[in-house]
Amino acid sequence: QRAAVRVHAAAKINDKIKLDEPKVVDTVQAKDISKQGVFCRCWKSDTFPLCNGAHVKHNKEVGDNVGPLIIKE
Ligand code: FES
Repeated sequence: QRAAVRVHAAAKINDKIKLDEPKVVDTVQAKDISKQGVFCRCWKSDTFPLCNGAHVKHNKEVGDNVGPLIIKE
């Protein structure tokens, strides 16, 4: 059984996405979700809001366990 690890959260989650905007908001039409069904939740993707697999590198580097939201029909 894995022990829970407490890590001090960084002050900011987002260190790369639309930093010049006061808030990151993305809109996806419901009809397009089946075509764009893997959404980033780690904030490291170069294709944000879509996952590009960058969470794998992030998880290895910092011992995190984040991954995408996958929408299935
Ligand atoms: Fe962020 Fe996959 S790149 S969850």
